[in-house]
Amino acid sequence: MDKSKKFYVTTPIYYVTAKPHLGTLYTTILADVLARWNKLQGKKTFLLTGTDEHGQKVAKAAEKAKKSPKEFVDGFIDAYQSTWKDYEINYDHFIRTTDPYHEKAVQAWIKMLIDKGDIYKSVYKGWYCAQCELFVTEKDLEKGHVPSCPDCKRETEEVQEECYFFKLSKYQDKLLKFYEENPDFVAPKERLNEVINFVKDGLKDLSISRTKVKWGIPFEGDKDHVAYVWADALNNYITAIGYGQKGKKENFEFWWPADLHIMAKDILRFHAIYWPAFLMASGLPLPKRMLVHGWITVDKKKMSKSFGNVVDPNVLKDTYGVEPVRYYLVRQMAINQDGDFSTQDLEQKISSDLANDLGNLLNRMVTLAEKNDVNVIEAPKIWADKELALRGESCNVLSDFQSYMSDYQFHMALASLWKFINKVNAFFHAQEPWKLAKTDRDAFLRVLSATAHSLRLIAILLWPIMPQKMELLLSSLGEKFSLDKNILEDLSLGNWNKTFTLQKIDSLFKKYAPSDRQASAFASTVAKAMVDKKATADKQDDRGKKASDESEKSEHISINDFAKVHLVVGTIELAEDVQESNKLLKLQVDCGDYGKRQVFAGVKKFYKPEELIGKQGVFVVNLKPRKMMGMESQGMMLFAEGKEKLQMVTVAGTVANGTRLR
Ligand code: MSP
Repeated sequence: MDKSKKFYVTTPIYYVTAKPHLGTLYTTILADVLARWNKLQGKKTFLLTGTDEHGQKVAKAAEKAKKSPKEFVDGFIDAYQSTWKDYEINYDHFIRTTDPYHEKAVQAWIKMLIDKGDIYKSVYKGWYCAQCELFVTEKDLEKGHVPSCPDCKRETEEVQEECYFFKLSKYQDKLLKFYEENPDFVAPKERLNEVINFVKDGLKDLSISRTKVKWGIPFEGDKDHVAYVWADALNNYITAIGYGQKGKKENFEFWWPADLHIMAKDILRFHAIYWPAFLMASGLPLPKRMLVHGWITVDKKKMSKSFGNVVDPNVLKDTYGVEPVRYYLVRQMAINQDGDFSTQDLEQKISSDLANDLGNLLNRMVTLAEKNDVNVIEAPKIWADKELALRGESCNVLSDFQSYMSDYQFHMALASLWKFINKVNAFFHAQEPWKLAKTDRDAFLRVLSATAHSLRLIAILLWPIMPQKMELLLSSLGEKFSLDKNILEDLSLGNWNKTFTLQKIDSLFKKYAPSDRQASAFASTVAKAMVDKKATADKQDDRGKKASDESEKSEHISINDFAKVHLVVGTIELAEDVQESNKLLKLQVDCGDYGKRQVFAGVKKFYKPEELIGKQGVFVVNLKPRKMMGMESQGMMLFAEGKEKLQMVTVAGTVANGTRLR
């Protein structure tokens, strides 16, 4: 098979000190989305994930749990494998660093480098961070009574041990030359600068064995030494596909080098410096690219077991379903930034993007067809201008989507697709097909066909993210999804010549009204925070009740009545003209903890969309959502009724989005 037609993608192998959480799930979902995206392009793909089971951190956790390290790690494997399977992560291989084939290959690799002279024995005296499994150099230590780790800020421990060292310093210039010749090695590009600066600062030889730690791969012929966990772990990317194993050479040579290693920013240094240097020393080609993403945070703090703020993917799955969560993570996180997780945001995205914009569009089209006895929709011989314009838009969105995906700008790819979905909604609404059904049957069928062709494109592009739901959507258009033909190429021809045989399906996505929230479902601090918030609110309610009873007797309202209206500051991120309406502008508003909202404002006469973008306004966020031009308005923007013009209400200085007005 042609090597240019393969895609080998990896996730980090996760430390097994706890079950998977939303952060590790996010990386793993990205790998799956990219594998599927490459499948759509007709490529043969290999997705590798697994667990990093040796080292001081795992050994300490096992000791605390009063278990042997192996017994301890064995206890987590099912949680990883079943969570990945539940989330439809189609991994091709799950490696464990305790797998005998991996251990043997690492031993042989070390021996080869000792023989070559790139690994030598000496004494390490310095500081070690067990949390990050990192030898911390003098210049990186953060000063203090006991110096702390530059990465996690925890106290380091002083160690003095006989060690084997890898000659990292020897590769400093080669690495710099490699980065210069491969400026796209790390995506997003800015991250490569951090790496280059670190290397330019000077590389010291790297200690790659430990004697004080027993839980690791022993060196052949020097069993007191076990491999330093990163020297062990990084090699998983080659051992998993056969490196150092009899009969696996052909397989290894087919898949290696990896096309993409995915990780968060915390471990880029290991991947972009140590790993290429190890490979250079081994005479192997370097991986083609690294994709580095930000952290999922809770209240701006990295989600991690050690901070005790993890969100359990299983709870999310049971509450919201697998594919909506996949969609949310890919849509919400900008790849180069950290992104705060909140259930409000998640529910808002599911309700507005999935249930309203996409699910309703399909439902309206199929229901209307059924009502008018249309089951089979054939492509018309001649399209009208409006439909041709929509077809043009569909070609544009396909090319935008492809280009964002090739840059790993997933959230932008989805934003551009959603703009198209809203155009299809606007098209459908503006054509008023329910009237055409009675007055102009041909025109009615054309609207149905154009909508169905658009939905087909949308479903195929979304398949990598929500495979089952999109296969269901396609089945309701009478199409069976298959990877046999090169679907993307077919789409790019823009041939709207399909015949659709419609089938009614249950609604694709559920909608969440704010009152549906089940805070108690979350066995995490996120839930706790939500429950705490509720308790405070209940207390305030009690306090206010008395005041409210009294106020009923007068014309005044009580402070408690006023508090019922949630007035919140939000930034208008997007403003668009609603073409079919004389009055409305459609706004996307960031309301902080209250989520991103779609809000319609009847101010077309007074404001151009660009005058509102980037401004902070005041919004009522707990009004019952209302349908406007077939779409949902999830709040109301406040304006003062000036004599000639409605003037937007705003705050004097900039405040955080979501700030309440009291
Ligand atoms: N075992 C090493 C990796 C060795 S790879 C040869 C390790 N393991 S880890 O369990 O700490 O996983 C780190 C990775 O998990 C991050 O780089 C990232 O991919 C993922 N994430 C862990 N927490 C995360 C967030 N809060 N947010 C996003 N990604 C998260 O380091």
